Amino acid sequence: MQPKPSDDLYTGLTRLEPTLPSSAYWDARAYGRDLDAIWYKSWLLVCREADLAQPLAFRTFRVGTQEIVVLRDEAGELRAFHNTCRHRGSQLCQESEGRLKARLLTCPYHAWSYSLRGDLVRVPSKSLPEGFDKADYPLYGVALSVWRGFVFINLAEDAAGSAEASFDRASGNLANWPLETLVTGHALRKVMNCNWKIFWENFNECLHCPGVQRTCRGWCRSMAEA
Ligand code: FES
Repeated sequence: MQPKPSDDLYTGLTRLEPTLPSSAYWDARAYGRDLDAIWYKSWLLVCREADLAQPLAFRTFRVGTQEIVVLRDEAGELRAFHNTCRHRGSQLCQESEGRLKARLLTCPYHAWSYSLRGDLVRVPSKSLPEGFDKADYPLYGVALSVWRGFVFINLAEDAAGSAEASFDRASGNLANWPLETLVTGHALRKVMNCNWKIFWENFNECLHCPGVQRTCRGWCRSMAEA
């Protein structure tokens, strides 16, 4: 029987607990809490700088319920915004990646246009409310930080500093590695139908390796002998 979802999923857990309660993996409220506590306020790696090498190149990314566009403006600066029009909230860039045809982000719904710095510069409608000021409706910006060729974004409204400042010093010094020179040789994208913690636990903890490898060896031997 599934345990009842609880509002205090993690209350009382200590580092000695062998695992999280199962609802941490299926309860929508737990997922919402993960988004607020981690994904909406941490620096997230989204791509390599070279993936957006040309002016007007863009990529879109989804984090939880939020869609973000990262682009290189005409002056060569990388910028990130919520991919959402300030008028009625339409999606601005509809492709996952590409190159803008102009130095403007134009909404496909009613054609409000934004500069690549995020300023609202054109509103076609002739019947605007009195006192309407385009300066009040820039795109919502997203913090962006580049570290050695890796592009990070941070959705927190008060995000400050750099991605590098958030790194765990215990992970070691990577100064000897020529990370800036890396190029993307191949990209493998997978959609995993599981809670994000399932993947990261399996990736970070190799407790399963001895058992799984023994199983694999046994299976291979039995296949060879068949
Ligand atoms: S929703 Fe973008 S212009 Fe109307």
